[in-house]
Amino acid sequence: MADSYLLQRLGLDREGRQRRLDFLELGPRDEALLKELREFAHKHVDAIVDAFYAHLRKFEETRKLLVDDESVARLKQLQRVYFLRLTDAQFDAAYFESRLRVGDAHQRINLEPRWYIGTYHLYLRLLIDRLRDEYGSDPDRLAALVNAVGKVIFLDIGLAIDAYITGGYVERELAQEYRRIAEVAERTLKEKAEVERMKTDLSNMIVHDLKGPIGGILTVTQLALRKRGGNPESNVKRFEQIQRSARDLLRMIENLLEIDQMEGDRLELRVEPVDIAALIEECASEYRAAAEMAGQTIAVNVDADVPIVECDLWLLRRVLNNLVVNAIRHSGAMGSIELSACQAPRRIEIRVRDSGRGLSMDDQSQLFQKHGAGERRAKNRDDTGLGLVFCKMAMELMGGTIGLESVPGQGAVFMVSLPTLESD
Ligand code: HEM
Repeated sequence: MADSYLLQRLGLDREGRQRRLDFLELGPRDEALLKELREFAHKHVDAIVDAFYAHLRKFEETRKLLVDDESVARLKQLQRVYFLRLTDAQFDAAYFESRLRVGDAHQRINLEPRWYIGTYHLYLRLLIDRLRDEYGSDPDRLAALVNAVGKVIFLDIGLAIDAYITGGYVERELAQEYRRIAEVAERTLKEKAEVERMKTDLSNMIVHDLKGPIGGILTVTQLALRKRGGNPESNVKRFEQIQRSARDLLRMIENLLEIDQMEGDRLELRVEPVDIAALIEECASEYRAAAEMAGQTIAVNVDADVPIVECDLWLLRRVLNNLVVNAIRHSGAMGSIELSACQAPRRIEIRVRDSGRGLSMDDQSQLFQKHGAGERRAKNRDDTGLGLVFCKMAMELMGGTIGLESVPGQGAVFMVSLPTLESD
């Protein structure tokens, strides 16, 4: 028969069992002596078992586990079987298994090892007293018998300890405490996630609802600008300014909403062939007026061989818009901004260069991360600090990359690249 899981786990295969017996020097001579004790055992079993439970009843720690007379009567029956098996002297897999089970039964009822191990000595005492009465006239034989009984009892104690350890008794309180802490932590995290989700849902709803009124402002200013004939020049400038601010606001709102969609894998790409040169020109024209207002220039420099690229036009346009707004914001008066594009092996690269203050390595490492957005926002009061976070997520969603080269005092170059189908 194959060894049980418990025996396997404790390395108590045939060889492991034999090694334990060898260590206790429990051999054929002891087995023969124990078998000789069968008659003696049957004669004394009831008295020994009675004395055993009478002792356990004297102590609060053991008494509390002996619930009532009925269960003690049942235990006495089991104890008889246990005791008589000692003199069977058959130390095979079944014996080891049965002793491990007994140990396991006690660790399950939380019997502390100090009482359990102490009770083995009680066993030994009860036995030796009776052995002395029976074999006192032959001290050598008595010594040999006590020796043999002692070895089996120590074998059983070893197996009991194994069962306690395997059953997790030693670390049980600690394990229960860990489990309790883990449960509390898990519950707290769940509650926190739920609150976060509700907060996000709520702010997304508000942000989404803001799009309506801003759209309204854009429409009204557009109408006013179309009918500019009736407006004095100063009003036209104001409308243009209102329109730029409204568009900026819309861009920030869209960044927020799309970051949320990308984080929740809810943003679906609409891939189509995109003329990069035309897109860059469109983006430059859209922001040229804003740059000029800030005393800056926007130049475009696109290589003639830049191919059409398969990507999401809406997302790429928004990435470029964010990068250009960023460049305008950081270039200062008299600044110059350049949008360029060129083909590189298996990809195209678009660069947005500004002539601003540049960024330290520290700032660069935080730039595309959402958790640094709060600080960036504090530095640039007129932005959410999420523009570059959006750019990175959008580029990666399209299979592209975004990077930055900057030396403090010498401006910055943001590079986005997208894969192309052409071979290099
Ligand atoms: C030499 C020490 C001991 C031996 C050899 C021993 C033997 C046994 C045996 C053979 C069983 C039956 C196990 C099974 O269901 O397979 C058992 C169960 C039990 N023993 Fe002991 N026992 C010892 C010490 C103690 C002590 C100190 C107490 C304390 C009161 C105790 C209380 C119990 C109880 C309450 C059960 C029932 C466990 C259950 O409901 O699963 N035992 N014992």
